[in-house]
Amino acid sequence: MKVLVSDPLSEEGIKTLRDHAEVDVKTGLKPEEIIAVIGDYDALAVRSQTKVTADIIKAGKKLRIIGRAGVGIDNIDVEEATRQGIIVVNAPNSNTVSAAEHAIALMLSLARHIPQANTMLKSGVWKRSDFMGTEVRGKTLGIIGLGKVGSEVAKRARGLEMKLIAYDPFISADHARNLQVEMVPLEKLLKDSDFITLHTKLTESTKGLIGAKELASVKPTVRIINTARGALIDEEALTKAVKEKRVAGAAIDVFPSEPCTESCLFEDNNIIVCPHLGASTTEAQITAARDIAEQIIDVFDGKPAKYAVNAP
Ligand code: MLT
Repeated sequence: MKVLVSDPLSEEGIKTLRDHAEVDVKTGLKPEEIIAVIGDYDALAVRSQTKVTADIIKAGKKLRIIGRAGVGIDNIDVEEATRQGIIVVNAPNSNTVSAAEHAIALMLSLARHIPQANTMLKSGVWKRSDFMGTEVRGKTLGIIGLGKVGSEVAKRARGLEMKLIAYDPFISADHARNLQVEMVPLEKLLKDSDFITLHTKLTESTKGLIGAKELASVKPTVRIINTARGALIDEEALTKAVKEKRVAGAAIDVFPSEPCTESCLFEDNNIIVCPHLGASTTEAQITAARDIAEQIIDVFDGKPAKYAVNAP
């Protein structure tokens, strides 16, 4: 069996695969280069950089499984894979804690202007008066999406003595009660929050969830954190709101199109940005790579895949 690994994966996962299959690690390939070689492979393993399009899937005549070393499968044309009888698997639990910790890190960075202060001091300027911060204790954190990552954020924010509210139409009242989170409609969350953090999937109904209309109802002191998916927020509307001081700041880890090296979000110093680092920890990457390696091997052995997204 042959596996193509087309994004950087943790060595642990690659080693697990090599014990059972022939593995080629070829990262940074252009779409046409993948199309040219994919016909030789039984499995394809990716992170988020490789866009697994219908053309790649159709060219993968021998493909049996596509493994996504992470959670979001929005870089894979799952419908086409299903049509071609190819199993798509992910690693849904691999980076939950890493993503939650990153959201908390960004929230505290926003509250205390850490990235801006770091840049200014390294440029030779010692100016404490520019960086008056705010405590998070006693502040209201609005969590949009109380699934795996949102729940871990809630647990950590409770330790910071924040008041927790959340909007999520799919979460049971019991789950929220156990986390000591008050479930509220989106309108109330927008109105009452001092910090808002997004942890929802990108779907047709969540695209542009936070746009000009929503930003018109927040407190001017609100700080917004997005470690989920870029297209959940209208970037132009957010930049405008920050520039006009209708939003105090934002921390953005994700972009509608990635990699992203130019964005209106880069124009305002109260918006801090990262190149999609939520899952970039040693622990998350080892787990993600192992989880998909094991599923690829299981499928080669005729067993069901543990986290198939398009098969029982
Ligand atoms: C995910 O969906 O797993 C995260 O956004 C991280 C990543 O894309 O690697």
